[in-house]
Formats: sequence, structure tokens, C-alpha cells
Amino acid sequence: MFEKEIAKNIKIEGMTAADIENMFETPKDESMGDVALPCFKLSKVLRKSPAAIAEELKNSFTPCEEVQEVNAVSGYLNFKISPKAYLKHLIPIVGQGEATGSSDEGNGKTICIDYSSVNIAKPFHIGHLSTTVIGGALYRIFAHLGYRVVGINHLGDWGTQFGKMIVAYLKWGDRTEVEKGGVLELNRLYVKFHKEAEENPALDDEARAWFKKIEDGDKQATELFLWFKEITLAEVSKVYDRLKIKFDSYAGESFYNDKMQPVLDMLDKKGLLEVSDGAKVVNLDAYDMPPCLLVKGDGATLYATRDLAAAYYRAKTYDFYKCLYVVAYQQNLHFKQLFKVLELAGFEKAADMEHIAFGMVSLEDGAMKTRLGRVVWLSDVLDKAVEKAKSIIAEKKTEGIDVDKVSEAIGVGAVVFSALWNNRIKDIVFSFDKVLNFDGETAPYVQYTHARCCSLLKKGGTVNLDDLNLDSVANDEGIAVIKSLISFADSVKKAATLREPCYVSRHVVDLAEKFNRFYIAHKIASAEEGRKNARLILTLAVKNTIKTGLSLLGIDAPEAM
Ligand code: ARG
Repeated sequence: MFEKEIAKNIKIEGMTAADIENMFETPKDESMGDVALPCFKLSKVLRKSPAAIAEELKNSFTPCEEVQEVNAVSGYLNFKISPKAYLKHLIPIVGQGEATGSSDEGNGKTICIDYSSVNIAKPFHIGHLSTTVIGGALYRIFAHLGYRVVGINHLGDWGTQFGKMIVAYLKWGDRTEVEKGGVLELNRLYVKFHKEAEENPALDDEARAWFKKIEDGDKQATELFLWFKEITLAEVSKVYDRLKIKFDSYAGESFYNDKMQPVLDMLDKKGLLEVSDGAKVVNLDAYDMPPCLLVKGDGATLYATRDLAAAYYRAKTYDFYKCLYVVAYQQNLHFKQLFKVLELAGFEKAADMEHIAFGMVSLEDGAMKTRLGRVVWLSDVLDKAVEKAKSIIAEKKTEGIDVDKVSEAIGVGAVVFSALWNNRIKDIVFSFDKVLNFDGETAPYVQYTHARCCSLLKKGGTVNLDDLNLDSVANDEGIAVIKSLISFADSVKKAATLREPCYVSRHVVDLAEKFNRFYIAHKIASAEEGRKNARLILTLAVKNTIKTGLSLLGIDAPEAM
């Protein structure tokens, strides 16, 4: 941000200001300064020690408004930015409103994000939380940076399990029961099928026959299949609404039913298909991977076959710049194989496919009894978090507050935030008390700070912009807040580049902490007019930035709570 101005005032033989600008780093320790110029690489060219170079550059530096202090320390030239330079950015940031941190870097580029991708007739369980919220956050973050984003729910709606479902339904099911019980009832039937099939393997043959009927487009089979799908989606949609998750496409596995053969033919023509025990595979020995199985001995296609067809379809349909798959690390091998096969086939976007892996979520022991034994339903986790949020806010002043709405925002927000707090790959042990802690690194803490800002702004009344005394925010606490406001854009960008929403979640917590320190140290509403106005402007910028940060993560920011 300030590097450009600083670079203009440094003189190094044989280097332009732009060369110098590219050398700057951010010191790890903030007390060292805000911007640093490492002199180690220069040492070779200038044939002097880094320390001597830093010392010389310090002496020849032309003072400028941006820089308050220059120091040469162990081969680095460290700059402390002046409060005045920071203050200059405050008004433009307020002017951006909730568009803060946005850019147009993605203009003209399309990013496909395959996320959530739940399985039909199976419960939406806690295992799908991370893919859903990480995918949703990446979607909004890329959109904020100007990309066209295509959100794809690659539904697991194909495979022999649908034959099993039909057998179970026809034998033990009942239409009204399924309509009443939804996915839960479908799942009960599915579990029953497996139990019964252990005793009676003939059931598996029946299931295969029914799946074949679905594949052949038999009327009854297709109707039942579509009905199961409709029931699952109705239930899943309710959870998506609560999580603010949207998709541009629900083209799931079944969508590729008629799109696999051309891809298989193409692989065959390229000499990539091998027959092994009657199955068709792509041999990946040379890459230290097991073969990628594409057609089974009985002619059935697989998950990987559909993913191959999907890659070609997406490239053709969306002409993407990148195609991201937000899927658990358990599928690392699947994606490595998939991308390798695409590369071998000469798929021109092979290098633009990325597996965005993440770790597992488990519940703290005894945190919740499950309805079905092992599986923990996501809607149950959300309900419980909301219920707990409600009892927490009931202890506070709640007049004028829509308690149901606010507890929904806090409870759901807390769960979402917990899945976005760490680097993706980390496994998470979920604890209700931890995620709902109003004083922790949590959504409620950030939401509470946002509500505090709203209340200060309400109390403060209209701000007279002609009477701004910026000295009132030029103290350590105020400058720390402004620094965090300025660097929000960098965090959004970093979150996109590294596909890590945690840069946004960490940033909003940091901003909230810094603002709260300011709030404790300085009067706001009761300060003298010009000083109050400047502090309210700061408060407004914080409010907007937190609101934007939370909304990028898919979390509501209530005005009062
Ligand atoms: N339905 C799969 C699962 O629940 C995830 C699908 C991910 N997307 C993909 N294109 N393979 O494990």
C-alpha cells in the first residue's frame, strides 16, 4: 500500500523504483516497523555487507510524508508508517461501504466450484458441513474479486444404491411414511436393506436388476428414483437456506449418464484404456498410483467415470479458468487419478483442476446423541446451536430484539465460523461451548462487536463530515484499527489465492479485537463534536468491514443482539 511512495525515495544504483518496490516485505514483528527492505540480495551486487547497505540506505533516504521513522536493523531497512499516512485511507474506506475489499481482478474469468455435493437418499450429516461452507465462502470471496463463479452441486444420485432403495421401498416402505419421514425414512429403509441382504443375498440381485431398469429408463423405476431425489433435495434445501448456500447447477452424477461413452471412446482411441479382469482401466503404474477403474466387468460405470465426463462437460459449458473440487482429503487419491487421466488424455485444462481438500469434523464426546446411531445430522447440530444461543441471549437485555431471528444468526453463524476458522486441512473437534463463546475467536464475538458498532452509530446520530478531527483516532489503538481496515483487502485476496477462507475469518476477529481495544480506551459518543465525528467514522468503517467479512463467510450480522 505504501511501498510505492517509499520506493521513490530510496536510491540504489542500477535499480528503478519499481524494482525496489518488489523487494519489500512485511516484518514478522510489528514492533520492528510496518514495511521492511531486506538487503541480503543486494549484498552480492553491491559487494558490501547487508548491514552496511541498510545503514547507507537509511542515510540517503529522502524523508516523505508516509514515513515516520527509518531504522537499519540486522540487514533490514525498516520503515514505520506515519499516522498521517494511515489516516488518509480512512475516508476512502468508509466511502467503499460494504464493497470494501472488493476488486475487479477476476473480471472475464470463470471459476467453477464443486462443493457440498451431497448424496441422494442419504442424510445431510456433519461430514458435509466443511465442503458446504468452505465452498460457499470461496464462492462469495471469488465473486467479491470480480470472478464469474459457477457453484456446482455434483449430487451423488447414481449407482446401485438406488436399486437397493427401490427394493427396500417396495418391500417394506409406504408412500405416506416416506412423505412424512423424508430422508430419515429413506435412510431407515436403506439400512434395513443392508441388514436383510446379509441373510438373503438374492436381494442384491434384485437391486441390480432395479438399477438396470433405472439406467434403461423404465417408467416405474425412473419415477421412484426422481421421487427419492425430490424428497432428499427438499430437506437439503432447508439446510442450504439456513447456511445461505446457493448453486448455479445441480448437475449430479446421473446427469453424466449419457456423456460417459464419448469420453471412454476417446480414451480408447488414445490407447489409454486397458482391459484387466474384464474391467476397463487406465494404468497409472508409471505414476505410482493404482489403476483408475472406469468400467466394471459387468459394464457398470463408476464415480471416476462420471467425474471424467463432468470435467469435459464443465470445460465446454463454462470455459473455466479454474475448476475447484471442495472434497475431503479421503478422496485425495481419486482426484490425483482423475487429474492424471485427464492430463494423459491431453485435456487442455488438466492443469487448472484443483482438489481443495479439508480435514474431518468430529463432535466432542457426548456432545450430542445421534438419531440414527452413528450419523450426526447437520440440521440437529444447527438446531442445538440455535437453542443454546437463545438461552445465552435470554440472559441479556432483549427488548426490541427479534430473539428467534437473532439466535438463528448466532447459532448457525457459530457453527459455520468454526468450520472456517482453521486452515482447511486441519481436523476439527467441534464443541458447542467453544463455538458459542462470546469472548472467544468466534462468530458471536464478531457479531457482538458489529452490533456494538451499530449501537454506537445510532447513539452518535448524524456525522458532520465538515467537522472531523482526525487527531482523535490518531492514537495507537485507532491506528491499529485503521491498519486492519486497510489490510482487509489483502486478506480477501489471500483467501482467494490460497483457497483458504480462514484468512477472512481471522481478519474479522483481529479487527473486532482491535476495535474493542479502541472502544475501551476512548470515549466515542460522548467525545467533543469534531472528535466524536472522526471516531464515529472509524466505527462505521469497522461496522461495514465486519459485515462484509462475515457475509463473505456466509454469516449474518444482526444490528442488535
Ligand atoms: N458425493 C461425494 C461425497 O459425498 C462428493 C462428490 C464430490 N464431487 C465430485 N465431483 N467428485 O463423497
